[in-house]
Amino acid sequence: MPIVRYQGELLECKPGATLRDVILKYGLTVHNRNARYINCKGFGTCGTCAVKITGNINPLTRLEKWRLDFPPHHQNRGLRLACQVEVLGDVEVKKYEGFWGEKIT
Ligand code: FES
Repeated sequence: MPIVRYQGELLECKPGATLRDVILKYGLTVHNRNARYINCKGFGTCGTCAVKITGNINPLTRLEKWRLDFPPHHQNRGLRLACQVEVLGDVEVKKYEGFWGEKIT
């Protein structure tokens, strides 16, 4: 079973599980501040679930490419949308600051 490392926690999930769902299931969130309440609920359109991921996941989807290509996101910053990511093996996830998690340090 894949392990998701996030905010100091180890979250176990089934292969192919959606990253956002896994994190929510464990009582955590991929959303910052009010984005916790104001988001598209996983449809891949708001961009507030953006995270940096290291590990085995599905390739970037068309929907992610579209959403990550306009502000405040920009392509080639290496972020992914947790609601569009399938966990295929162990992964490490980092959430950056900003409403969309776009303030990469
Ligand atoms: S929750 Fe809106 S893009 Fe992922």
